[in-house]
Order: sequence, then C-alpha cells, then structure tokens
Amino acid sequence: MGKAIRDVVIVGGGSAGWMTASYISKAFGSQLNITLIEADTIPKLGVGEATIPNLQKVFFDFLGIPEEEWMRRCNASFKCGIKFINWNKEPDTAGNNYFYHLFGQVPNVDNIPLTHYWLHRQREKNDIEPMQYACYSAAPLLDEKLSPYMLDGTQAMSHAWHFDAHLVADYLRELSVGWGVNHVVDEVEHVELKPDGNIAALTTHKGGRYEADLFIDCSGFRGLLINQALKEPFIDMSDQLLCDSAVAANIPHDDEHNGIEPYTSAIAMKHGWTWKIPMLGRFGSGYVFSSKFVSRDEATEEFIKLWDLDPNEIKLNQIKFRTGRNRRSWVKNCVSIGTSSCFLEPLESTGLYFIYAAIYQLVKHFPDKDFNPTLIARFNEEIEEMFDDCRDFIQTHYFTTSRDDTPFWRANKHDLQLSDSLKHKLETYKAGLVVNMPPTTDASSYYGNFEIEFRNFWTNSNYYNMFAGMGWLPDNPLPKLQYRPETIEEAKKMFSALKKETAELKNKLPSTYEYLKKLHRVGV
Ligand code: TRP
Repeated sequence: MGKAIRDVVIVGGGSAGWMTASYISKAFGSQLNITLIEADTIPKLGVGEATIPNLQKVFFDFLGIPEEEWMRRCNASFKCGIKFINWNKEPDTAGNNYFYHLFGQVPNVDNIPLTHYWLHRQREKNDIEPMQYACYSAAPLLDEKLSPYMLDGTQAMSHAWHFDAHLVADYLRELSVGWGVNHVVDEVEHVELKPDGNIAALTTHKGGRYEADLFIDCSGFRGLLINQALKEPFIDMSDQLLCDSAVAANIPHDDEHNGIEPYTSAIAMKHGWTWKIPMLGRFGSGYVFSSKFVSRDEATEEFIKLWDLDPNEIKLNQIKFRTGRNRRSWVKNCVSIGTSSCFLEPLESTGLYFIYAAIYQLVKHFPDKDFNPTLIARFNEEIEEMFDDCRDFIQTHYFTTSRDDTPFWRANKHDLQLSDSLKHKLETYKAGLVVNMPPTTDASSYYGNFEIEFRNFWTNSNYYNMFAGMGWLPDNPLPKLQYRPETIEEAKKMFSALKKETAELKNKLPSTYEYLKKLHRVGV
C-alpha cells in the first residue's frame, strides 16, 4: 500500500467548498486533517438555486441528514420539475405556451417507454393531448400547485428543492466544523509550487502558510489553483452555448394569495431566458442572456418589465459567467470542484449536481501519496463525460425551439456547434427509436443509485419531455409498434391508469403552500 494522504486543504467557502468539506469529512474524517480557507466576504443576497431529486440520496443521506432537517434549516421549498414558458413560436391548440420537464421516468410497456405509444396514438387518432399530460400523472398536479407529499408524509411525486445556496453553505459549515474541519478565514495570496509542478503550500494575507498533500480548488470562476497557479487551460464553449451573462434579483411574493409553485420556471425571452425559483415569501429570478446579441442595459430593461419591478426598490445583481470546463479538472495534487472546474447555464439545474457528482467521484478515486495517474485520468474522464453530456442536453433546448424572432434565436438554430454524439442522438430520435433507455422506470431505485444514474443521467424521458414539449417530433412513430396491437392495448390501459392516479392524488394532496407552512412552522 502507498502512503496515505493526511492533509487536505480546500480553498473557497461557497457551496462547493462546504459540500466538499462535509462530504470528505464524513467519508474519511477520522483519517484526514481537513482545512478550509475562505476569504471574509460580505454575505451574498441569494437569488435561489434549483436542484434535482438525487441531492437527498447521493448527498444528504450520505451525511446522515434527513430531508426535513436540512429543509427547515435552509428554508427550502419543493420543485417537481421545470415549466418551460414561451419556448414555442406558436401556442398549442389550447392556447397555452408552456410545457413541463417532469422528474421521474415514464412507464414502459413491452420494454418501450410510453412516450412512443403516445406518439403512435397522436398520429393514428389525431389526438392532441400533450405528452406530459398523457404519460405522467403529475402534470395536472403541478398546474394546481399541489405538494409532492401528503400531509401524513406519504410521497406522491418525485421532487427536488429550491433554496438559497448560501443558507446551505452556512449549514454545512456548521456541520463540518462540528465534525472537526479546520475553518480558516483568510485570503490566499500566493501558491507555492514544488519543482515537479505539484502544489507545496498556500500562503495567506494574514501570514499563514498551509501545506497539504492534496489541494481542492473551490475558488469559483477564477480557478485560483487549477487555472491561475497550475495553468490548466479552460476550454471555452461559447460557440456551443451563446449565453454568458445574467441579471438577477430577489422578488417579493404573496404566498397567501397566490400559493407557491412547486416547480422552477424557465421563461424564454428575446435574447435568452429567465429563471423563476419560488421560495417562501419571494422568488429568485434571473435573465440569462448573450452579450453578443444584447447590451446589459437593454437586457436589464427587458427583465424589469417582465416582473414590473421598481429599480429603486429591488437590488439587481449583474453576473458574468464562462461556459465550458477545464481540459482536466484534476491536475497533479489539485482537484477543482464547482465553477472552478466547469460551468453550464442553469437551464436544467445542474449547478449543485456538478459539485456533489465531482465529490462522489473524488471519494471513489481518492489517491494515496503516489497519485496513481490512472486514478486521476479516470476521474477526469468521468467529469468530462458528465459535463459534455449535460452540454449536449442543454443544446437540444436551443436547437429544437421553434422561436426565430430575434438574431439570438436564429443563431441558436443555425450556428451552434453540435457534438457528434448529440447529432447521433437527434438522428436516433427522428427515426422513432428510443434515445437512451432508462435502466429502470422506478424512480426510487433510479434516483440515488448513483453508479447507474450517473451513466444514464439524461434518459429517454428527459429527451422526450424536451422534444415533445418543443413540438419537435420523430418523422414516424417507432415502426415496430404497428405489428403489435396487443401492446397498443396495454399502453391504453396504462394511459387510463395514469388518469386515475391523477384524480386520486388531486383529492389527497395539500397545496405546496399548506405543506411548507406546516414543515417550516410558519405562524406557529
Ligand atoms: N436525471 C435527472 C433527473 O431526472 C435529470 C435532470 C436534471 C432533470 N435536471 C432536470 C429532470 C430537471 C427534470 C428536470 O433528476
């Protein structure tokens, strides 16, 4: 056995830093000395973070923290999917211009996702029911802002969460420090390198010097260790996704009067899209746009108009971001996690996922002092694949939308660089085939079974939610189906079973507002 690593230093105290500190401490805490160095910054005004369902199983369950406990501490609300608004040029036949990207997998019939039977039915019968309403029981429940839990705690829908990421970071800091993580409030000024290019130590503003075997860079977009000190290039992907800026705010909301929406909204705009993340008493919102097509001032004006804001009363946050990833996220004795490693616009809520997926991979590939290059190479391959796969999926949104009203949308349609693997998926789909089969349709065994989920992150259901929602459909339904009328009959039964489930749940579920009021003991 090689000599074990003893000292780990983490730079940066945002969500990435504290998620890493707490997770590693839980995994290897008795064997490691972990130090986290963070600069003394003014607390940030959170504008809301949206997550995905495996956050509980992959991250919080590993730490041993029940959902209710951290939700209370972090003022979290529920999210059961994403509502895409105005992504279509024309409203649907019912006059609506929205569709949901729902959590969970659609059921299979004869090993083929129900979505394919839906398309078959649509073409045979001229049926116009949207895919999400035919193939999931949840869509009408989201319309009515119902809670994913019954009042007795029984879960009825797959869900994720909305919260301020800085509240989660505060909570994890408290836990980590309690578990023995050494918290240093100071600013890193200099990175000392060894002759072989490894990091030897960090020196700080207050005169501290921190040596370690392994350094974790959670310093954010500037990539203090990985990019600045180790000079690892960041692969810029601004020709593949055009947005590079955002203007964001926290907007007050009357929950009592309007209820709380159990979903994120992504509203298409002239030069990008706006997120809406409902929390208690307010929602976080931000317009993600491309500075190549619109000025900051003009975008800010469009955003202010959308919500009818008074710029004298609402604080606006201007954000600039880089899209892409490091060529390698782990170089020598330095691992980057969070935005120092990679960043993708938050259209599918992958931000925190990238963090805890990388931590999971780090623990899985954790080295000894020999730093076996194969461990490092495998880690880097995993991150690369995870990121590129998510980039492909985000690109499909821009590629399949029918909007063409501004140069921004036209450039998305015609000038985007698509990867070969994405082109392959689009062709597969157009031929009516299953794009990517889920390993299982049972949400509880899919979410959190991370070795399976990590490799099958975007399933056929995810792709169909987007494609069908955008009205971008295969040329023909899966040809195989016309030879198996008995499976068409089976599918019919499944469609009715889902309707029945919806009707039953409508009677049993409280509103999201009511459930959250109870959970957070509002007004008690
Ligand atoms: N496998 C992920 C999930 O179902 C995929 C995902 C990421 C997703 N972001 C999403 C699904 C947003 C629906 C909405 O959780």
